[in-house]
Amino acid sequence: MSASDRAPLPELDLLEARARGRRTSLVSLEHLNVNVPSWSADCEAFWFQGLGFARDSRAATICGNVNNAGGTMKGLVWANAGLQQVHMPVGEPEPYASQCPPGVMGLAYADVTALKNSLTASGVPFSELPSQAEEEEEGLLTESGLAPAQIELSSPTGVRLRVHRITAGTLGWLTPNGWQDPVVAAEQGVGLPGDRPSLCLGIPYIRLLCPASTAAGLCRLYAAVFGTEATLCTGGSGVECWVPIGAHQWLVYEEVPTGQAVPYDGYHVAIYINGFVEAYRQAQSLGLVWNNPRFPHLRYDSLDEAVGHSEFRILRLVDPANGQELISMEHEVRALSHPGFSYSLPKSSLKQQ
Ligand SMILES: [Fe+2]
Repeated sequence: MSASDRAPLPELDLLEARARGRRTSLVSLEHLNVNVPSWSADCEAFWFQGLGFARDSRAATICGNVNNAGGTMKGLVWANAGLQQVHMPVGEPEPYASQCPPGVMGLAYADVTALKNSLTASGVPFSELPSQAEEEEEGLLTESGLAPAQIELSSPTGVRLRVHRITAGTLGWLTPNGWQDPVVAAEQGVGLPGDRPSLCLGIPYIRLLCPASTAAGLCRLYAAVFGTEATLCTGGSGVECWVPIGAHQWLVYEEVPTGQAVPYDGYHVAIYINGFVEAYRQAQSLGLVWNNPRFPHLRYDSLDEAVGHSEFRILRLVDPANGQELISMEHEVRALSHPGFSYSLPKSSLKQQ
């Protein structure tokens, strides 16, 4: 059966995003994957006891599937922050044993004072941020419904995090349509399984460094492949590419000075998209579709295979205007039919492609 003969893939009506002037087909920035050498007591204290992420028991099944296919991970921890996650495969071989993106990930909490108490009780160090440093993030704060970041901290393997308090609307989980009360969300079948509700309510953004003179090309790439109108702007440090996702999330690229290298160690981000088939075709036409050897059972050489897995991956990000290679950063691109999508209900919100 060809992909065109299959039942149409679902889409989510991004009315809230459009009402905010966002032209995006990207529905959700769902997880950051960073390998860790081992699952230490420090990792447990940091992610679960201190930050109050919720352990996701589905990880064991996924790890088993990867191992059965010949994958090399020795374990897998999923830490949920509302409807978003951090994936931490354990014990992958070098040079991918420990991963850390060059940048910072935003976290949202209803009560930062309670979080600080939790971190202190768990022995997790953090730094208070000066309030004036956040004025440069005004656009992000306005669109994401966040207060300026109050504290910054780093995971045992170096993942930098900035913590914001939610200011706008109903306190709750960060969904593709905005912040949603967890009780209402649960009634609609929205949510992730976890041992307990997470203290962290969501991941509103990931901010990454990119080489000089690449931000404009990145904007063109997101337009060409993902049908998303990213904004090119000047930030506190230089030129930036801001990619809108859903109603309140951002993927931000920040250029470093000319001549400065940006390391890449194989971490990845996962995004959900409306218009999955078209995104695959555009990525394929640019030669970007990539099979990650860490997942031997997942190949995306044809549209049929990609649709069958409800996902594909790209590694190299190029300027579609001239083919210039900009940066490597693995994107795991998922359709809304992927079984991991946490917003599969209410069905009334899903329309057919
Ligand atoms: Fe992933």
